[in-house]
Amino acid sequence: MDKCAIILAAGKGKRMKTNLPKVLHKVCGKEMVNHVIDTLKRCDIDDIDVIIGNGAEEVKKSTQNRNVSYSIQKEQLGTGHALMCSKDFLKNKEGVVAVFTGDAPLIREETVQKLIEFHKNGDYKATILTAIVEDATGYGRIIRNKENEVEKIVEHKDCTEEELKVREINSGMYCFDIKELIKNLDKLSNSNSQGEYYLTDVIEILKNNNCKVGAIDVNVDEIRGVNSRIQLAEAEEILRKRINEKHMENGVTIIDPKNTYISKDTEIGEDTIIYPGNMIEGKTIIKEGCIIYPNSRIQDSIIEEKVTIQNSVILESHIGENTTVGPFAYVRPQSEIGSNARIGDFVEIKKSKIGNNTKISHLTYIGDAEVGSGCNFGCGTVVVNYDGKNKNKTIIGDDSFIGCNVNLVSPVEVEDNTYIAAGSTITKKVPSGALAVARAKQVNKEGWVQRKGLNKDKK
Ligand code: UD1
Ligand code: CA
Repeated sequence: MDKCAIILAAGKGKRMKTNLPKVLHKVCGKEMVNHVIDTLKRCDIDDIDVIIGNGAEEVKKSTQNRNVSYSIQKEQLGTGHALMCSKDFLKNKEGVVAVFTGDAPLIREETVQKLIEFHKNGDYKATILTAIVEDATGYGRIIRNKENEVEKIVEHKDCTEEELKVREINSGMYCFDIKELIKNLDKLSNSNSQGEYYLTDVIEILKNNNCKVGAIDVNVDEIRGVNSRIQLAEAEEILRKRINEKHMENGVTIIDPKNTYISKDTEIGEDTIIYPGNMIEGKTIIKEGCIIYPNSRIQDSIIEEKVTIQNSVILESHIGENTTVGPFAYVRPQSEIGSNARIGDFVEIKKSKIGNNTKISHLTYIGDAEVGSGCNFGCGTVVVNYDGKNKNKTIIGDDSFIGCNVNLVSPVEVEDNTYIAAGSTITKKVPSGALAVARAKQVNKEGWVQRKGLNKDKK
């Protein structure tokens, strides 16, 4: 049986009070709608249609590299109407369509799979994912008949006193038989308290047509919808806990999981220790045995084994094994730091390659440079990569010693095995084996202080 999915993502998110489309708000660093897309893709559902309306262009842009199709819902007339807008997507399809909402990012792969299996095995025409909750406020209620079969879903605002007491709620996630769904969508009406076409009404219509309707329930934490900033923070907390626990089960020490922020797509090796206050974002890989001391931000980077990082920012870069970074270093995108290297305090590396065993320990800026292995940089070196118009390249060979407070005016080359005297401003190539001195000679004016009467010694 074929399977495809539809994600409803056209709503405005009034209760969020936001200019950004609701589904683009981030949970653990990733847009909610992208959490849903990624989860479905991991379940081998590749044919996904996203229904967009509010902020359609923005939603398209934020999801563009995920290979999904789009249907437009011009006016948001309800979840049933949203599905009507994807008729072209469903046309000529058979089998199961899974329907999810873009504002419920906590759903897990296992549950999606379970829902689809249950739907198929039971030969249902519709299967609803439900949850039993203490407080059902705001959710649609699952109404069952005497035989305990699902009869219909009633929205909170349309519930009778009796129905309000029901604690089984609709998650807004379903499987449908495509043919039956298409046949019955047109029968929806908007005669309800909100004047909307409710997708939930399809259930009662199917039931009345003698179609088999099923339901399975999951923990409410998986189906929480985000309608406000408070619920956004709650979703963040649940996902954060889930992610951190997965890493701890895999052998990572997280000293304070409540204060450690790791993206869903990060991988971390065994025996790595993560201190509090770290933000690890995007697709980051941290290998085994690393120590990440407090308060770093690491984004879309690869950190090899046994690296130590303290209080630093590392973006889209690669750090070789056994290297130490920080405290207070800034490694900017497209940098490649070798192994056994040292990037020390107040060092900024921009789009540069740094070889193995090279030490750049303090107060240094390296931009658009290729630095060999075994070099040592004194304190306060500056690669002068920008001439006001262009960014130029600096090349430094292996085993060179760059003295303190040196300027390397790019483009310039320093060959292997050279020394540059402290305070030099280098504008010309330094040949291999040379010492370069490029600073004014020192002049001592004997007795000058005394002659000027500036001597503090009164005697
Ligand atoms: C919906 C369900 C409710 C369920 C709850 C679970 C209906 C009528 N109600 O209510 O039974 O308990 O989800 O969270 O389906 N959307 C569109 N176009 C529209 C309206 C909504 O694309 O015209 C999208 C929204 O962007 C959102 C999703 O559908 O992603 C759900 O809409 P929302 O208004 O949040 O529905 P709920 O009131 O939460
Ligand atoms: Ca909702």
